[in-house]
Parts: sequence; C-alpha cells; structure tokens
Amino acid sequence: MNFDSLWTPIKVGEMSLPHRLVMAPMTRNRANDDGTVDSHSALYYSQRASMGLLITEGTQPSLEGQGYLKSPGIYTPEHIEAWKQVTQAVHDKGGKIFIQLMHAGRMNHPDNTVDHHQGVAPSAIAPENGHMFTAKGMQPVPVPRELSSEDIQRTIQDFRHAAKSAIDAGADGVEIHGANGYLIHEFLGENSNHRHDEYGGSIENKVRFALEVTQAIVDEIGADKVGFRISPYAGFSTIDEGTDGANIYSFLTKKLNQFGLAYLHILHTGNEDILTSVRKNWDNKLIVNRMGRRLEQIDVDVKSGIADLASVATWALANPDFVERLQNGAPLNEPDHQSFFGGGDHGYIDYPIMENLK
Ligand SMILES: Cc1cc2nc3c(=O)[nH]c(=O)nc-3n(C[C@H](O)[C@H](O)[C@H](O)COP(=O)(O)O)c2cc1C
Repeated sequence: MNFDSLWTPIKVGEMSLPHRLVMAPMTRNRANDDGTVDSHSALYYSQRASMGLLITEGTQPSLEGQGYLKSPGIYTPEHIEAWKQVTQAVHDKGGKIFIQLMHAGRMNHPDNTVDHHQGVAPSAIAPENGHMFTAKGMQPVPVPRELSSEDIQRTIQDFRHAAKSAIDAGADGVEIHGANGYLIHEFLGENSNHRHDEYGGSIENKVRFALEVTQAIVDEIGADKVGFRISPYAGFSTIDEGTDGANIYSFLTKKLNQFGLAYLHILHTGNEDILTSVRKNWDNKLIVNRMGRRLEQIDVDVKSGIADLASVATWALANPDFVERLQNGAPLNEPDHQSFFGGGDHGYIDYPIMENLK
C-alpha cells in the first residue's frame, strides 16, 4: 500500500496543497458556551496540520443556526479573535484551514443553546423519530418554526457575515454545509420542504436557498475561498430527496459549477451513478469522502480520477499524524467513540503521535 496517487501536489482555489488528503469536518462539541473556541482547539487542529487541507467542525453563522451543545460560532468579534489562534497555529505549521459554515436548521433542541431558541426550517416538520443529544440527555427533536421570506433573506445575510468573519479570523476559506440534514439540505428534501413560495415545490425552487447563500458568500469573499458540501441520498436526519433526487443534484451541481468555487465535497454513500453525474457536472476540484471504505481503499477515487482529493474524518481524528503514518505504513491509533462529542482533552488532543516523529 503506497497510495502514490495521493502524494502529488494540487492547487485548490489559490492554495497549493502538497498532497491530496483532506481532513473532513467533524463536530467535537468542545467550544465555550458563547461559541468561542480556545487554545485546546488550536492545538487539536495544529496537531493535524500535515493533512493537505483541514475543514473544521460545523460552525454556526448565527445563534439561530446553533442546534447542538457547545458547537462554535463565527459571527461575533469574540468568535473572530478566538478562531485567530486556531488559524495561526495551523498556518505556523504550514497547514491550510477552511471553516465549515453549518446552520443546524431543525436539528436543534432549545436545551442546547443559551437563548433556548426553537429550531428553524423550510417547513414546520420535525425529522421522523428524530432524537438528539441535549444538555438533559437524549430527547426528541421538536417541531421547528417555519422560516418566513424575511427570515430567509436574513439567514442568507448571516451566512455572508459569517464568511467574512471567517476570513477576518485568518481562515483560508469556508465550506458551505449543504449536507447531512441541516438547514440547506432541509430545503432539498421532499419530506422536509413543503413550501409554496419560491423556495419550495419545483427543483429550481428547492435549490434556490443553497444558490443564494453561495452567491452571497462568493460576493463577499470570492469563489476561490469557497467550498460546498453535499450528501446525496445519505438519509441523515431522515432527509429524503425523493424521486427528484437525481435531478436536484444535477441541477444544483451544474449551477454551483458556474460560480467557479474552490471545490465541491461529496459525502458518498455508495450510489455510483450520482458520483459519476456530479463529476460530469463539476469542472473544478472534487473532494470525495467515501463512507465505510477500508484503509486500503483510501486512494481509489483519486486513483480512478473521479476525485481530485480524498477526505477522511475518523482516521484523522484518532491520528494527528495520519499522513506520516500512511506514508510509513505505520499502524493507526483506534478512534475512541466515547469521546467524539463533548468532553475535555481526552480523545481530543491526547492521541499519540508515532514514536520516531516526536
Ligand atoms: C465525530 C464526527 C463529527 C462529524 N461532524 C461533521 C460536521 O460537523 N460536518 C460534516 O459535514 N460532517 C461531519 N461528520 C461526517 C464526516 O465529515 C465524514 O463524512 C464521515 O465521518 C465519514 O468519513 P470517515 O469514514 O472518514 O469517518 C462527522 C463525523 C464524525 C465521526
């Protein structure tokens, strides 16, 4: 296993990356209650700076966009100052970092936020049998509030402001989270979007919010600093794109392609037709996160040419020196699932690096 195809340099946006491995975004629920990150996060990310590009945990563009406990924000001057220590620490080690902008939408529980707000969504529909971890243990996900037209315009501006804040904090760019059942994805779902205005109904309407958010962010920080993440048919939080699914993603990716974004990031759960169609529609860099692959398959998509880069989450979480271990054929640390979400330093910044790298 030498994974030759991964070890060639590549340009993404204006960044020259030394190789093709990307750290996928991972929520770790270790921010302070006001959404600021601290020096532990700076250490966590900088430990992993040898990944070609780091994409941070989902970070809310507004308080309304927070749905989980202790997820970070990027919308106040304090957030910007706090993220600066992270971006600086990563840059000091020669790394690159994009902040993932994640509006949780209906994946929210009032017990999780300082203002105890209700979640928001395209329609007042809760995820089927949805449960989430809260300050009081597992609880059902409540019915969200339907966004008004004015709310939608405000939310687009929130994304725009957050993107600017991320750049002000020294990030190399932002990834728009259009995946995994959160707000942008909720607009794409047949069972989550029952709107009758210009944001629901036809494919063009369901995709409108994603495109308007992207347009606002591109206008603010430039397309070369923007990535977009999708998860077609992944079924997270019971989002079902329905019979329109293939056409939704075809339309969305063709339209996104026109912006000339730095990259598209696909969480690929095995539908090869959709991956082929996305690649056909996408001229710029494509990052593929193939769920459930074994280590020896890590380079399959880059090798076949369908992907330009491969992203990994769990392996990078458990191995700060994942790149060096892979290059040396060294054994990997096992991830500790108990410490994925929340907690302190254990399982966050204490995964060991290889002896001879110390
Ligand atoms: C602890 C954890 C947190 C995650 N949080 C996010 C997130 O904030 N945003 C996101 O887009 N995906 C998130 N994911 C999904 C990962 O980015 C990735 O798509 C998934 O784990 C599959 O990749 P892997 O097999 O390399 O782990 C998370 C995954 C894990 C394990």
